[in-house]
Formats: sequence, C-alpha cells, structure tokens
Amino acid sequence: MAPLFLFLILSSVFSFGASTRTITNYSFSIREATIKDIKQSIERNQLTSRQLVEFYLGEIARLNGLLKGIIEVNPDALLQADAADKERNCKLPGSLPDLHGIPILLKDSIGTKDKMNTTAGSFALLCSVVPRDAGVVSKLRKAGAIILGKASMSEWANFRSLNAPAGFSPRGGQGKNPYVLSATPCGSSSGPAISVAANLVTVSLGTETDGSILCPASFNSVVGLKPTVGLTSRAGVIPVTPRQDTIGPICRTVSDAVYVLDAIAGFDSNDEATRRASYYIPPGGYKRFLNPYGLEGKRLGIVRDPFFKNVQGLGLGQTFESHFQTLRRGGAIVVDNLQIDNIDVILNVNTSGEAAATIAEFKLSLNAYLQELVVSPVRSLADIIAFNLKFPDLELTDEIDQGIFLAAEATNGIGALEKAALLNLENLSTNGLEKLMRDKGLDAVVTPRWDASPVFAIGGFPAITVPAGYDSQGVPFGITFGGLKGSESKLIEIAYAFEQATMTRKPPSFKP
Ligand SMILES: *[C@@H]1O[C@H](CO)[C@@H](O)[C@H](O)[C@H]1NC(C)=O
Ligand SMILES: *[C@@H]1O[C@H](CO)[C@@H](O)[C@H](O)[C@H]1NC(C)=O
Ligand SMILES: *[C@@H]1O[C@H](CO)[C@@H](O)[C@H](O)[C@H]1NC(C)=O
Ligand SMILES: *[C@@H]1O[C@H](CO)[C@@H](O)[C@H](O)[C@H]1NC(C)=O
Repeated sequence: MAPLFLFLILSSVFSFGASTRTITNYSFSIREATIKDIKQSIERNQLTSRQLVEFYLGEIARLNGLLKGIIEVNPDALLQADAADKERNCKLPGSLPDLHGIPILLKDSIGTKDKMNTTAGSFALLCSVVPRDAGVVSKLRKAGAIILGKASMSEWANFRSLNAPAGFSPRGGQGKNPYVLSATPCGSSSGPAISVAANLVTVSLGTETDGSILCPASFNSVVGLKPTVGLTSRAGVIPVTPRQDTIGPICRTVSDAVYVLDAIAGFDSNDEATRRASYYIPPGGYKRFLNPYGLEGKRLGIVRDPFFKNVQGLGLGQTFESHFQTLRRGGAIVVDNLQIDNIDVILNVNTSGEAAATIAEFKLSLNAYLQELVVSPVRSLADIIAFNLKFPDLELTDEIDQGIFLAAEATNGIGALEKAALLNLENLSTNGLEKLMRDKGLDAVVTPRWDASPVFAIGGFPAITVPAGYDSQGVPFGITFGGLKGSESKLIEIAYAFEQATMTRKPPSFKP
C-alpha cells in the first residue's frame, strides 16, 4: 500500500474527529460493535458505512504494521462504502440485506476479481488474474458487503512445509497474536482472526482443511465457524482438498458469524458439493437459532481422553469443569466420559490416511485451480516449487523447506494407496464420531480449544469455536462444539447460549 494513501486516510479520520466532538465515544462504539449494533447506529443516522470504513482504515494504519493481519486493503473500499450509503438512502429501512454496508476481510486464498491480488500469501501468484469472484464473494457482494481487503495467512494454507511458522507468509510477513505478541496467532486463517480480534474490521472469512479456522479463532479469542463441507462454495478459493476444504466466518461474536454464514451458505453452480449441502439450510436461514435458551435439552458429549486430559496438564482443567457446569445450568444434558473409537489413529495424519489422501488431492486441485486462471506466472505445483527455489527472496522463506510440496508433487493421482487411505478415513468417521453421536443420541460433542479438529476435518463435519478463557500468560483459548453434517442450527444454538452465559471475549491487550 502506498504511504500517500495511508496519509490521506489518516488525515480524513483526524478531520472527522476535529469536527465532531464525539470521535472518542464514536470510535469507542465501533470498536467491538456487532453487525446488529452497527445496523442500529446506521438506521438511527448516527453512522455511515464511510465512517465505518474510515475508522477501520485508521486502525489498520495504526496497528497493522505490528500485527500484520492484513496483506492488502481494497483500494475501492471507500467507493463501496459510499455506494452502500447512497443505496441505503433510496431503500426502505429493513429492506436491505443484513451485511449491507458491512466491511468484511477475506483470507488471501479467497479469489476476488477486482483490484486485489489472490495469492495464498505467496509471491508466486502476484498479479495472477482470477476468472471470476469466488462463489462466496459473489454472495457477499449480492448481500451488499464491503470487501475491505485481503487477510494474511500461513502461506499456502500451511501446505508448503511442516516447518513453516504459523501465520507467516512471504507477502504478509509474520502475523502476531494481539493478546500476547510473542504467542502464536495459529493458522492458517491467522490474518482473519488477528484482524477481527484487534478491531481492524467488523467480520472476516477464513478457510479450513483441518484446524485452520478453529485454531486461529481459539488463539485470538474470537468465534470461528467451520461449516459442513459443501455448505459454502469453495469455487474460486485456492484449494487443498475439496474433500475437506470449507469456507467459514471468523468474527467476534456468534451472532456476527451467523449473519455472515447466512450470506455465504448455499448453492453455487461452480461447486457441485453445494447442491446437496444446500438442503441442510433451514428455511429463513440460521438467524433464528441465536437463542439464549439454546442449551435447554441439548445432549452434549464429553470425550475426556485425550482431549480434556491434555488441557488439564496445561492448567486449564478447572476452567473447562466450570464451563461444563455452565452447560448444565443452561439445561443441557452433559454425557461424560465418552470415547471416540480409534481416536489415536484419527489424530495422527499419517496413520489415519489423511496425509496420504490430502497430498495427492492437493496436487490435483491446485493444478486445476492454476489452469483456470486467466493470467498466471505459475500453472502447476511444479512451477511453484521451481519459483520458490529460484526466488528465496526473504530471509525466513529461505529456511522453510518445501517438504509437503515435494511429497505432493511426487504423487500421481488417486492410486491404490490413496484409495485405501480414503476408505480408512471414511471408516474412521463412520465408526468414530458418527457412531458415538448416534449411539448416545448426542446433539454435539464438546472439546477444548481446536484439539479435535481432525475428527471434524476428515468427516466434513461442522464445528464452532467460542472464546473460553485466557491462560496464565494471557493467551486466549476457546471451546469447540462439533456435530454431524448439517447440524449447524444446533451448534449455533449451543454456541450462542454458551457465549451469552459466559461472555469471555475481551479486546486484546498487546502484551509482549
Ligand atoms: C456518546 O456520548 C454521549 C454523551 O456523553 C452519550 O449520551 C451517548 O450515549 C454516547 N453514545 C455512545 C454510542 O456511546
Ligand atoms: C497487487 O499486486 C501488485 C503487484 O505487487 C500491486 O502493484 C498491486 O497494488 C496489488 N494490489 C493491491 C490492491 O494491493
Ligand atoms: C508424519 O510423517 C512425517 C514424514 O515422515 C513426519 O515428519 C511427521 O512428524 C509425521 N507426523 C505425525 C503426526 O506422526
Ligand atoms: C473399519 O473399522 C472397524 C473398527 O472401527 C474395523 O473393525 C474394520 O476392519 C474397518 N474396516 C475397514 C475396511 O478398514
């Protein structure tokens, strides 16, 4: 971003402050504001989308140098804000979609056909031209959202190397956890989580193949919703594997995440999986499941071994015990001491078959994505590997190997090994989470932090992470509710009621 551009933004924020004594109180109210708060202020003529975007641009100018949550700001963000403000004047109140005039940040792997780049954090894709907006981006534009920019991420969704630092990409630099700057922000949707946590934007979109929404949400004290695979379109998003990839909201509150989910879920002719999954969407969408009494009568399973045993060792045991009490007080039936069959196998990407299947699928999917680009300096995984060898331009990139890339490049489609791995993964889900949920009649399982992400990843199951506390160093952690495919309505009821009963999230403190 050009320094001149930043200066103009800053001066416009300052002049706004100088002319209207309410700047502190006004900016205070934008910080931590929900979509609902913002809509209300806009309806009362206390706020415009332009003021909202100006506030965020000011905060980005102030904080992004430190946090590196954002790779690019949309040069058209203010234009889009003005268009939203203008359109609002000509429409009846209440006739506009919920996201109308609301700024949203997209992980850098989510394609936009506009002035911005879509690169998964890599210089290899700089100035590539996508054929069209990603399916979820078309839906966001239809809903009137303002695309504020592209968020940083772990390069290639953490699929380049096993030794890549979380939240680092050559284009974005090292993203920082705004609570404890020396702690990991986790990845790969690091930038979306960092940026909503630090109030650089209202809401954001991340993607998950295994843990990439749940983990950064957990570490940045925000809500991460990983939808059932296919509920949201993956078309136009730089892929890992269509078998597990899913696009979902990362926001400060459950209700914000649900407003975003309502806007992006549903059929997209460019992603066949959305056809079937769209039948999961309840009439009228998910908003009506924002029910403060949503815990009443829900059967929640607790798998202690290994999940809560592990966090007990970290001194978080008491906090989670008190959360179980909260769930019971809310009227949930907590079914304790359950087991998921073969959990040790499921949690190890090598023994489950997840690694073997995913690397082969990655090569196929990434090559297909690159082939579809209108313009691109690279057209295959092999080209990207060669690019990285030729341009180890950053000190840090030099030290990051291409282990996963090379393993993926060595695969040759879906052969006997991959088929066996895929069968094993299916079996692990059928005889694992699915069997447990059905045998015990559960509505959801409760797990700490993001730790159960492989359980949800390999089966394409949905899960939602809600802030659950801060450790002795001040590093945030979440609690995750997961369930069977299409169970978003139930998960939202549970997560919302839990959030309302606990209200654990607080804005970041920027500790060293
Ligand atoms: C702003 O401050 C005024 C005066 O102190 C107060 O009446 C008003 O409620 C405040 N508005 C917000 C949104 O906090
Ligand atoms: C996209 O990348 C090109 C090349 O670095 C750059 O000139 C352009 O400004 C980028 N777009 C945005 C919106 O930053
Ligand atoms: C999986 O295998 C790779 C390559 O052999 C190894 O580096 C990695 O540590 C293994 N991961 C686990 C969870 O065992
Ligand atoms: C599926 O898993 C069950 C136990 O969980 C095991 O007995 C069975 O052999 C597995 N089937 C295949 C085809 O791997």
